[in-house]
Amino acid sequence: MLLSGQTQVVGLFGDPVAHSLSPVMQNAAIQAAAIDAVYVPFHVTPANLPAAIEGIRSLGLLGVNLTIPHKEAAFPLVDELDPAARVIGSINTIANRQGRLIGYNTDGSGLCQALRGELDVDVSGRRVLLLGAGGACRAAAVALAEAGACWVGIANRTLDRADRLIADLASAVQGTRFASFLFDEQLPDRLGQSVDLMINTTSVGLHGEAFAASVLSCVSPGGAVYDVVYSRQETPLVRQARAAKLAAADGLSMLAAQGSLAFALWFGQDPLPEVMRQTLQQHGSE
Ligand code: ATR
Repeated sequence: MLLSGQTQVVGLFGDPVAHSLSPVMQNAAIQAAAIDAVYVPFHVTPANLPAAIEGIRSLGLLGVNLTIPHKEAAFPLVDELDPAARVIGSINTIANRQGRLIGYNTDGSGLCQALRGELDVDVSGRRVLLLGAGGACRAAAVALAEAGACWVGIANRTLDRADRLIADLASAVQGTRFASFLFDEQLPDRLGQSVDLMINTTSVGLHGEAFAASVLSCVSPGGAVYDVVYSRQETPLVRQARAAKLAAADGLSMLAAQGSLAFALWFGQDPLPEVMRQTLQQHGSE
């Protein structure tokens, strides 16, 4: 990679940041598109986040991604928010438009893109169950509602957190019904009617842990399971779902899709198809 006097800089703010696959994925896409730019990981501590964001403007960075623990903290620090990001309450991408910093969240729209591409699932009019009630769940719930899901259930091991999330979403999102559930082994009984699609937004599976197999009976025959978790091997949930004859995919496609949406926001063009995904497959996850 040759840097010139005109090389544009994009990057990632995180703490930690060294484990991230975004630099290798984004730089591969930048090179494939022959753009004079570079994507740099920046280790930014929470105390330094406001100065780092101001630095986007002062150093003329084209934009950044934000990862743990900055997605919520960066939200009030930008000049303008994309409408979906405003409802989600967190941002994973900033674009610098002539010194004006615009915050976006491409996680939820990346998820919907991955559902279409990997599982051929269009969520419009569908019943979807989300496992978890954290930031990843919130981004997913907003994107699913925007994409026309008719019903979204949120099941969490701490019921109160699911209740609070739903109360929040119900006032901001129209057209989708929400319901909360305690996530334990009795979830399929409590749910009553099975769902077309179940999405794991918790970190369960990242280190090979599995849910109780009973969770799969929440999904209708012919339905699908998406695991936001991605690991080099098939995640336990994806393995269990495929064994139960359900269509299933892991989070690799979402990681690539949220990255390509950010790329398009910075560079005004889509990355070449498949470059990000293939790079992720080659480099795996830690
Ligand atoms: P993120 O912002 O990435 O979504 P988070 O806010 O820490 O991360 O949320 C993690 C989610 O995974 C939560 O819904 C958490 O459940 P609690 O709210 O009850 O803590 C869920 N989670 C984590 N470990 C879990 C486990 N072993 N079983 C079930 N849910 C789990």
